[in-house]
Amino acid sequence: MDKNAINGKFKGKSFLKLLDFSSEDIQDLLDLSAKLKAEKKAGIAHKIHEGKNIALLFEKTSTRTRCAFEVAASDLGMSAVYLDPSGSQMGKKESIEDTAKVLGRMFDGIEYRGYGQNLVETLAKYAGVPVWNGLTNEFHPTQVLADLLTIKEHFGTLAGKKMVYMGDARFNMGNSLMVGCAKMGMNFVACAPEKYFPSKELIDQCQEIAKKTGAKLSFITDPMEATKGADVIYTDVWVSMGEPAEVWQERINDLLPYRVTSDVMENAGPQCIFMHCLPSFHDLNTTIGKDIYDKFGIDCMEVTDEVFNSKQSVVFDEAENRMHTIKAVMAATL
Ligand code: CP
Ligand code: NVA
Repeated sequence: MDKNAINGKFKGKSFLKLLDFSSEDIQDLLDLSAKLKAEKKAGIAHKIHEGKNIALLFEKTSTRTRCAFEVAASDLGMSAVYLDPSGSQMGKKESIEDTAKVLGRMFDGIEYRGYGQNLVETLAKYAGVPVWNGLTNEFHPTQVLADLLTIKEHFGTLAGKKMVYMGDARFNMGNSLMVGCAKMGMNFVACAPEKYFPSKELIDQCQEIAKKTGAKLSFITDPMEATKGADVIYTDVWVSMGEPAEVWQERINDLLPYRVTSDVMENAGPQCIFMHCLPSFHDLNTTIGKDIYDKFGIDCMEVTDEVFNSKQSVVFDEAENRMHTIKAVMAATL
């Protein structure tokens, strides 16, 4: 692996949202991810950033994203320092701008997971080193890279494939998947009650992109109409990190008809795969899952255990691909 991954095209750039990258850029990052994945499987080392240091700043909890950054950093020859949600002064005693300037003096790159997209954008503005968005309320771009890689691996192509996103389509996953599909010429369907559709502003931006890539974006409230012939059915939790517990009742009432069930998968057809960024409430083996069962009497939420564990489910391929794609983003931007 060349030290200047993708000919230095991305060197010094931050990775904050997919809107900042062209379709060709995204394809380049996916190709690099596939290459790094193949090298790792073949036991070929790629310590192209030996001696560099990165900071992992998490204001919300994580399993996949944190581990993906740590393992990928190690594979690239780097050290990673993890700052947990209570482990930094940022926001409480120190501004984002000052934190960015301090971390930028010590680290070669910074991952940030937190609340508003404006925070990660500010961090990038002042850090002087690449900043990578590990999830904000608005976007989760490294997840979508992993998802696109997974779809490409499964079908061999992205353009023309139909993805249906069921659930709260106006938060980080719905937003980012709509952008990703628009950029890659896919057909994206948000399937939810109208109030859960992405904002008009983001839809308009994506429609402009779609005009150039041939993508098609639709917004449909009827689950059976939306999912007919889908290649991918995607869902996410109904209540995201940082949202108050009080919204559970309303979300369950609104989104129960949008749960991914075997009927929905059958309606889509045998070609259809099931995707989820994880973590998922598909059984009662979590404290929140049990708590919701005690309060509302439902034994699963956004997806049934049957679909989650079915042959059509590729959720653990997505989880693995978080590492390969995050590695590609770091390899290319450092
Ligand atoms: N999908 C995802 O971002 O998972 P974590 O919250 O575990 O990082
Ligand atoms: N929408 C979810 C995604 C988790 C990866 C959340 O923000 O909690």
